Amino acid sequence: PGVVVGVDIGGTKVLAGVVGDDGRVSGTARRTTPGRRVVTQRVEDALVEAIVEATAGRPLAGVGVAAAGFVDSGGERVMFAPHLPWQGQPLRELLEDRLGCEVRLDNDANCAARAESRHGAARGATSALMITMGTGIGGAVLVDGHVLRGANGMAGEFGHVQVVPDGQACECGRRGCWEQYSSGNALVREARMLMREQPSVLSEMSGSDHDRITGPMVTAAAEEGDLVARRAYASVGDWLGVGTANLVAALDPEVVVIGGGVSAAGDRLLDPARAALQRTLVGAAHRRVPPLVAAQLGPQAGMIGGALLVSRPGRRPDPAG
Ligand code: BGC
Ligand code: NA
Ligand code: ZN
Repeated sequence: PGVVVGVDIGGTKVLAGVVGDDGRVSGTARRTTPGRRVVTQRVEDALVEAIVEATAGRPLAGVGVAAAGFVDSGGERVMFAPHLPWQGQPLRELLEDRLGCEVRLDNDANCAARAESRHGAARGATSALMITMGTGIGGAVLVDGHVLRGANGMAGEFGHVQVVPDGQACECGRRGCWEQYSSGNALVREARMLMREQPSVLSEMSGSDHDRITGPMVTAAAEEGDLVARRAYASVGDWLGVGTANLVAALDPEVVVIGGGVSAAGDRLLDPARAALQRTLVGAAHRRVPPLVAAQLGPQAGMIGGALLVSRPGRRPDPAG
Protein backbone atom coordinates (compact mmCIF):
# COMPACT_ATOMS: atom_id res chain seq x y z
CA PRO A 1 0.00 0.00 0.00
CA GLY A 2 2.92 2.38 -0.55
CA VAL A 3 5.76 3.92 1.42
CA VAL A 4 5.85 6.29 4.38
CA VAL A 5 8.05 9.36 3.99
CA GLY A 6 9.40 11.52 6.78
CA VAL A 7 10.55 15.00 5.86
CA ASP A 8 12.50 17.44 8.01
CA ILE A 9 12.48 21.09 7.06
CA GLY A 10 14.97 23.37 8.76
CA GLY A 11 16.33 26.84 8.18
CA THR A 12 18.97 25.63 5.70
CA LYS A 13 17.85 22.31 4.28
CA VAL A 14 15.02 19.92 3.57
CA LEU A 15 15.70 16.22 4.14
CA ALA A 16 13.16 13.58 3.06
CA GLY A 17 13.42 9.82 3.36
CA VAL A 18 11.41 6.63 3.10
CA VAL A 19 11.20 5.20 6.61
CA GLY A 20 10.29 1.59 7.34
CA ASP A 21 8.27 0.29 10.28
CA ASP A 22 11.49 -0.47 12.13
CA GLY A 23 12.78 3.07 11.66
CA ARG A 24 15.17 2.06 8.89
CA VAL A 25 15.71 4.65 6.17
CA SER A 26 15.81 3.70 2.50
CA GLY A 27 16.16 6.39 -0.11
CA THR A 28 16.68 10.01 0.88
CA ALA A 29 16.50 13.30 -1.00
CA ARG A 30 17.49 16.80 -0.04
CA ARG A 31 16.87 20.37 -1.09
CA THR A 32 18.15 23.73 0.06
CA THR A 33 15.56 25.70 2.04
CA PRO A 34 14.63 28.61 -0.24
CA GLY A 35 14.94 31.16 2.59
CA ARG A 36 12.80 33.00 5.08
CA ARG A 37 11.86 36.01 3.00
CA VAL A 38 10.46 34.10 0.00
CA VAL A 39 6.83 33.39 -0.84
CA THR A 40 5.66 30.42 1.21
CA GLN A 41 4.83 28.38 -1.88
CA ARG A 42 8.51 28.09 -2.76
CA VAL A 43 9.18 26.35 0.54
CA GLU A 44 6.26 24.01 -0.03
CA ASP A 45 7.54 23.29 -3.55
CA ALA A 46 10.91 22.28 -2.10
CA LEU A 47 9.15 19.97 0.37
CA VAL A 48 7.05 18.30 -2.32
CA GLU A 49 10.06 17.87 -4.63
CA ALA A 50 12.15 16.23 -1.91
CA ILE A 51 9.27 13.95 -0.87
CA VAL A 52 8.57 12.81 -4.43
CA GLU A 53 12.26 12.25 -5.16
CA ALA A 54 12.64 10.13 -2.01
CA THR A 55 9.86 7.76 -3.08
CA ALA A 56 11.74 6.89 -6.30
CA GLY A 57 8.45 6.21 -8.06
CA ARG A 58 6.82 4.12 -5.32
CA PRO A 59 3.28 5.10 -4.29
CA LEU A 60 2.94 7.25 -1.14
CA ALA A 61 1.03 5.87 1.84
CA GLY A 62 1.63 8.87 4.07
CA VAL A 63 3.95 11.75 4.90
CA GLY A 64 5.05 13.08 8.28
CA VAL A 65 6.49 16.59 8.34
CA ALA A 66 8.97 17.71 11.01
CA ALA A 67 9.00 21.50 10.69
CA ALA A 68 11.34 24.03 12.30
CA GLY A 69 8.62 26.15 13.78
CA PHE A 70 5.76 26.59 16.22
CA VAL A 71 3.09 24.06 15.28
CA ASP A 72 -0.42 24.39 16.78
CA SER A 73 -1.71 21.72 19.16
CA GLY A 74 -3.85 20.09 16.48
CA GLY A 75 -0.87 19.56 14.16
CA GLU A 76 -2.54 21.62 11.43
CA ARG A 77 -0.66 24.89 11.11
CA VAL A 78 2.82 26.35 11.42
CA MET A 79 1.88 29.41 13.46
CA PHE A 80 5.31 31.04 13.42
CA ALA A 81 8.82 30.06 12.36
CA PRO A 82 11.86 32.24 13.03
CA HIS A 83 13.82 30.76 10.08
CA LEU A 84 10.96 30.14 7.62
CA PRO A 85 8.31 32.36 6.00
CA TRP A 86 5.25 30.54 7.40
CA GLN A 87 2.80 32.41 9.63
CA GLY A 88 -0.39 30.56 10.48
CA GLN A 89 0.13 28.42 7.36
CA PRO A 90 -2.30 25.44 7.20
CA LEU A 91 0.60 23.29 6.03
CA ARG A 92 -0.86 19.88 6.82
CA GLU A 93 -3.94 20.28 4.66
CA LEU A 94 -2.07 22.14 1.97
CA LEU A 95 0.39 19.28 1.52
CA GLU A 96 -2.38 16.69 1.75
CA ASP A 97 -4.10 18.38 -1.18
CA ARG A 98 -0.89 18.48 -3.20
CA LEU A 99 0.27 14.95 -2.40
CA GLY A 100 -3.05 13.11 -2.23
CA CYS A 101 -2.15 11.06 0.85
CA GLU A 102 -2.35 11.34 4.63
CA VAL A 103 -0.06 14.12 5.93
CA ARG A 104 0.85 14.72 9.59
CA LEU A 105 2.76 17.66 11.04
CA ASP A 106 4.74 18.53 14.17
CA ASN A 107 7.69 20.59 15.36
CA ASP A 108 11.07 19.20 14.21
CA ALA A 109 12.59 18.79 17.67
CA ASN A 110 9.44 17.09 18.97
CA CYS A 111 9.76 14.61 16.12
CA ALA A 112 13.46 14.06 16.82
CA ALA A 113 12.64 13.40 20.47
CA ARG A 114 10.10 10.68 19.59
CA ALA A 115 12.54 9.04 17.18
CA GLU A 116 15.34 9.01 19.78
CA SER A 117 12.89 7.71 22.37
CA ARG A 118 11.73 4.84 20.18
CA HIS A 119 14.88 3.93 18.26
CA GLY A 120 17.79 5.89 19.73
CA ALA A 121 19.62 7.46 22.65
CA ALA A 122 16.55 8.05 24.84
CA ARG A 123 15.21 4.50 24.56
CA GLY A 124 14.09 3.26 27.97
CA ALA A 125 14.40 6.68 29.61
CA THR A 126 11.39 7.83 31.61
CA SER A 127 12.32 11.48 31.21
CA ALA A 128 14.61 13.12 28.70
CA LEU A 129 15.43 16.43 27.08
CA MET A 130 16.04 16.67 23.36
CA ILE A 131 18.06 19.61 22.11
CA THR A 132 18.62 19.96 18.36
CA MET A 133 21.34 22.27 17.09
CA GLY A 134 20.86 23.32 13.51
CA THR A 135 20.34 26.80 12.14
CA GLY A 136 18.76 27.48 15.55
CA ILE A 137 18.11 25.44 18.69
CA GLY A 138 15.07 23.19 18.90
CA GLY A 139 13.83 21.48 22.02
CA ALA A 140 11.48 18.91 23.45
CA VAL A 141 10.64 17.56 26.89
CA LEU A 142 9.93 13.82 26.97
CA VAL A 143 8.05 12.29 29.88
CA ASP A 144 7.06 8.61 29.76
CA GLY A 145 7.66 8.56 26.03
CA HIS A 146 5.38 11.53 25.44
CA VAL A 147 6.36 14.98 24.27
CA LEU A 148 5.11 17.78 26.49
CA ARG A 149 2.92 20.04 24.34
CA GLY A 150 1.80 22.91 26.56
CA ALA A 151 -1.33 25.02 26.14
CA ASN A 152 -0.55 26.14 22.58
CA GLY A 153 1.42 23.13 21.41
CA MET A 154 4.50 25.32 21.78
CA ALA A 155 6.32 23.87 24.80
CA GLY A 156 10.03 23.22 24.41
CA GLU A 157 11.06 26.35 22.52
CA PHE A 158 14.37 26.36 24.38
CA GLY A 159 16.15 28.25 21.60
CA HIS A 160 14.34 31.45 22.48
CA VAL A 161 14.99 31.52 26.19
CA GLN A 162 16.87 34.74 26.87
CA VAL A 163 20.42 34.13 28.09
CA VAL A 164 21.93 37.59 27.50
CA PRO A 165 19.82 40.65 28.35
CA ASP A 166 19.86 42.99 25.35
CA GLY A 167 22.14 40.54 23.50
CA GLN A 168 22.35 39.52 19.83
CA ALA A 169 19.26 40.14 17.72
CA CYS A 170 17.39 36.91 16.98
CA GLU A 171 15.35 35.94 13.91
CA CYS A 172 12.35 35.63 16.23
CA GLY A 173 12.39 39.41 16.67
CA ARG A 174 13.74 39.47 20.22
CA ARG A 175 17.25 39.74 21.67
CA GLY A 176 19.73 37.56 23.51
CA CYS A 177 18.07 34.21 22.70
CA TRP A 178 20.06 31.06 23.53
CA GLU A 179 20.21 30.00 19.87
CA GLN A 180 22.16 33.17 19.08
CA TYR A 181 25.02 31.77 21.17
CA SER A 182 24.77 28.05 20.54
CA SER A 183 23.70 26.89 17.05
CA GLY A 184 24.96 26.60 13.49
CA ASN A 185 24.43 30.32 13.02
CA ALA A 186 26.24 31.08 16.28
CA LEU A 187 29.18 28.87 15.25
CA VAL A 188 29.63 30.79 12.01
CA ARG A 189 29.26 34.18 13.69
CA GLU A 190 31.81 33.26 16.35
CA ALA A 191 34.29 32.03 13.73
CA ARG A 192 33.94 35.24 11.71
CA MET A 193 34.59 37.28 14.83
CA LEU A 194 37.64 35.27 15.87
CA MET A 195 39.10 35.62 12.37
CA ARG A 196 39.69 39.29 13.13
CA GLU A 197 42.11 38.22 15.86
CA GLN A 198 44.07 35.41 14.24
CA PRO A 199 44.64 33.78 10.84
CA SER A 200 42.50 30.82 9.82
CA VAL A 201 42.15 28.33 6.96
CA LEU A 202 38.57 29.59 6.77
CA SER A 203 39.89 32.57 4.79
CA GLU A 204 41.04 30.29 1.97
CA MET A 205 38.01 28.02 2.27
CA SER A 206 35.66 30.95 1.79
CA GLY A 207 37.74 32.65 -0.93
CA SER A 208 38.39 35.48 1.58
CA ASP A 209 34.66 36.28 1.58
CA HIS A 210 33.68 35.84 5.21
CA ASP A 211 29.99 36.01 4.31
CA ARG A 212 30.40 32.67 2.54
CA ILE A 213 31.56 30.77 5.62
CA THR A 214 29.16 27.96 6.52
CA GLY A 215 28.78 25.61 9.50
CA PRO A 216 30.21 22.61 7.62
CA MET A 217 33.25 24.74 6.67
CA VAL A 218 33.91 25.49 10.35
CA THR A 219 33.56 21.77 11.13
CA ALA A 220 36.06 20.85 8.39
CA ALA A 221 38.48 23.55 9.56
CA ALA A 222 38.25 22.33 13.16
CA GLU A 223 39.09 18.83 11.95
CA GLU A 224 42.21 20.20 10.27
CA GLY A 225 43.25 21.67 13.61
CA ASP A 226 42.37 25.27 12.78
CA LEU A 227 42.44 27.29 16.01
CA VAL A 228 39.71 29.73 15.06
CA ALA A 229 37.32 26.89 14.24
CA ARG A 230 38.25 25.03 17.42
CA ARG A 231 37.71 28.13 19.55
CA ALA A 232 34.34 28.69 17.87
CA TYR A 233 33.31 25.13 18.77
CA ALA A 234 34.53 25.60 22.34
CA SER A 235 32.39 28.73 22.70
CA VAL A 236 29.24 27.22 21.19
CA GLY A 237 29.79 24.07 23.29
CA ASP A 238 30.22 26.08 26.48
CA TRP A 239 26.98 27.95 25.82
CA LEU A 240 25.28 24.64 25.12
CA GLY A 241 26.26 23.42 28.58
CA VAL A 242 25.24 26.62 30.35
CA GLY A 243 21.79 26.60 28.75
CA THR A 244 21.39 22.89 29.41
CA ALA A 245 22.19 23.45 33.10
CA ASN A 246 19.23 25.83 33.33
CA LEU A 247 16.92 23.29 31.70
CA VAL A 248 18.21 20.50 33.93
CA ALA A 249 17.64 22.69 36.99
CA ALA A 250 14.05 23.16 35.89
CA LEU A 251 13.21 19.65 34.66
CA ASP A 252 15.72 17.17 36.19
CA PRO A 253 15.73 14.74 33.23
CA GLU A 254 17.40 11.32 33.18
CA VAL A 255 19.34 12.04 30.00
CA VAL A 256 19.96 14.96 27.63
CA VAL A 257 20.16 14.09 23.92
CA ILE A 258 21.86 16.50 21.53
CA GLY A 259 20.89 16.26 17.86
CA GLY A 260 20.77 18.42 14.74
CA GLY A 261 23.44 19.14 12.14
CA VAL A 262 25.95 20.77 14.51
CA SER A 263 25.96 17.68 16.75
CA ALA A 264 27.80 15.83 13.97
CA ALA A 265 30.93 17.40 15.52
CA GLY A 266 30.52 14.94 18.42
CA ASP A 267 32.80 15.44 21.39
CA ARG A 268 34.26 18.63 19.96
CA LEU A 269 30.88 20.11 20.83
CA LEU A 270 29.84 17.83 23.67
CA ASP A 271 33.02 17.91 25.80
CA PRO A 272 32.93 21.67 26.46
CA ALA A 273 29.16 21.35 26.99
CA ARG A 274 29.61 18.59 29.58
CA ALA A 275 32.21 20.68 31.41
CA ALA A 276 29.92 23.72 31.47
CA LEU A 277 26.95 21.64 32.62
CA GLN A 278 28.96 20.24 35.52
CA ARG A 279 30.30 23.70 36.37
CA THR A 280 27.01 25.60 36.27
CA LEU A 281 24.29 23.14 37.32
CA VAL A 282 22.87 23.95 40.73
CA GLY A 283 23.63 21.28 43.33
CA ALA A 284 25.82 19.34 40.91
CA ALA A 285 27.77 17.76 43.78
CA HIS A 286 24.57 16.45 45.36
CA ARG A 287 22.86 14.84 42.42
CA ARG A 288 23.38 12.58 39.48
CA VAL A 289 24.17 14.99 36.65
CA PRO A 290 22.38 13.62 33.54
CA PRO A 291 24.61 12.35 30.75
CA LEU A 292 24.82 14.61 27.71
CA VAL A 293 24.81 12.28 24.71
CA ALA A 294 24.72 12.59 20.93
CA ALA A 295 21.55 11.63 19.09
CA GLN A 296 21.95 8.05 17.86
CA LEU A 297 19.96 8.77 14.73
CA GLY A 298 22.16 11.82 14.11
CA PRO A 299 20.81 14.37 11.65
CA GLN A 300 18.09 11.88 10.55
CA ALA A 301 16.26 11.97 13.89
CA GLY A 302 13.77 14.66 12.83
CA MET A 303 12.96 12.94 9.55
CA ILE A 304 12.51 9.52 11.20
CA GLY A 305 10.34 11.09 13.90
CA GLY A 306 8.27 12.75 11.19
CA ALA A 307 7.51 9.34 9.71
CA LEU A 308 6.46 8.09 13.16
CA LEU A 309 3.51 10.52 13.02
CA VAL A 310 1.93 8.55 10.18
CA SER A 311 -0.45 5.70 10.96
CA ARG A 312 0.54 2.27 9.70
CA PRO A 313 -1.45 -0.91 9.53
CA GLY A 314 -1.18 -2.68 12.86
CA ARG A 315 0.36 0.20 14.77
CA ARG A 316 -1.10 3.37 16.22
CA PRO A 317 0.86 6.44 15.20
CA ASP A 318 2.66 8.58 17.74
CA PRO A 319 0.23 11.34 18.59
CA ALA A 320 1.05 14.79 17.29
CA GLY A 321 -0.35 15.69 20.69
C1 BGC B 1 12.46 27.33 16.23
C2 BGC B 1 11.99 25.96 16.65
C3 BGC B 1 12.79 24.88 15.95
C4 BGC B 1 14.27 25.14 16.07
C5 BGC B 1 15.12 24.13 15.37
C6 BGC B 1 13.97 27.43 16.39
O1 BGC B 1 14.41 28.68 15.99
O2 BGC B 1 11.83 28.31 17.02
O3 BGC B 1 10.63 25.81 16.43
O4 BGC B 1 12.46 23.65 16.51
O5 BGC B 1 14.61 26.43 15.63
O6 BGC B 1 14.88 24.03 14.03
NA1 NA C 1 9.73 21.54 20.33
ZN1 ZN D 1 14.79 34.13 19.42
